[in-house]
Amino acid sequence: DKGQYRHYMLKEIYEQPEVIKDTLRGRISKDKILEQAFGAQAKEIFDKTKAVQIIACGTSYHSGMVAKYLIEGIAGVPCRVEVASEFRYRKFVVQDDTLIVTISQSGETADTLAALRLAKTLGYAATMTICNVAQSSLVRESDLALMTEAGPEVGVASTKAFTTQLVALVLLTIALGKRNGLSAEKEAEMVSSLHQLPQILSEVLTLDQSIEKMSEAFADKHNALFLGRGVQWPVAMEGALKLKEISYIHAESYPAGELKHGPLALVDSEMPIVAVAPNDELLEKLKSNLEEVQARGGELFVFADNNSGFSSGDGITVIKLAPVPELIAPIVYTIPLQLLSYHVAVLKGTDVDQPRNLAKSVTVE
Ligand code: M6R
Repeated sequence: DKGQYRHYMLKEIYEQPEVIKDTLRGRISKDKILEQAFGAQAKEIFDKTKAVQIIACGTSYHSGMVAKYLIEGIAGVPCRVEVASEFRYRKFVVQDDTLIVTISQSGETADTLAALRLAKTLGYAATMTICNVAQSSLVRESDLALMTEAGPEVGVASTKAFTTQLVALVLLTIALGKRNGLSAEKEAEMVSSLHQLPQILSEVLTLDQSIEKMSEAFADKHNALFLGRGVQWPVAMEGALKLKEISYIHAESYPAGELKHGPLALVDSEMPIVAVAPNDELLEKLKSNLEEVQARGGELFVFADNNSGFSSGDGITVIKLAPVPELIAPIVYTIPLQLLSYHVAVLKGTDVDQPRNLAKSVTVE
């Protein structure tokens, strides 16, 4: 039931503070992760994990891309990420003590399931799935399952499954990090950020009206670029996928530092450029990348931290977000991009919940 909402997608966007609470429930205390809640085998598996190989498709692949920054950057554990349809058809080198992590909303995606089955024949140390459907094939066939508690997701464009996957991946990062020198102080700081997350997301959702206004600039466009740096690049990837899927506008994402290596040639006044700009150590780099875009007449739409020094003006529209802990910034900055694509699609009159040519669960190759 869509309740008061016009589309399931919008309802699911608005459910995020609640389902993230559900995903955290029982898995963190005030200042620690509660690892016993991850499953009977969790301790043994995490103890022996020396590397992580993530396998997923679509939006779930993007959450894996975010996780790579966290697992390598915070836990100090090597992490590779690959789309399942590639992984299953290439020869690769299996590193010792590698944990396979599949990520999937449905747990039935054919490519991801085939990749898991293949991986099991290749001598990987253990398998884990981050999944939203308890009775699914991926859950049944993995050693360990960390369930996202997003509830049923009806909209074909994935929203709440993505952000709850990111929460689960932060929990995994902490678990692996603790075996690799992550201090109790750092764990407490990370857990405290997770506790703040639902409230922060509720506040970000109040930007909805300004984002709806911003969406008008996209409705007659044929292309858009999404930019981010560091862990925000996969957030931009996910933003571009959302816009493509439901508004049928061609959208691409780039790590902003790559612009001058090619895509800058595409920039003119017909090319809206969306950027996510939290106040992190790459902010100044991102700013100079965005100046290059403006100099070529590109129109900028920036979701920026209050203290980032961006302001709206000629050729630039800025929507400001309150400062947030760096760990959860990818989750927080995903929300405005979901809302943006939603409103663009509504303006264009597309079938938001059931976009053309797509299925909710891709159970065939
Ligand atoms: O159920 P899964 O998470 O395995 O599905 C993977 C993709 O098919 C899925 O994320 C797809 O890209 C969505 N339509 C994205 O919105």
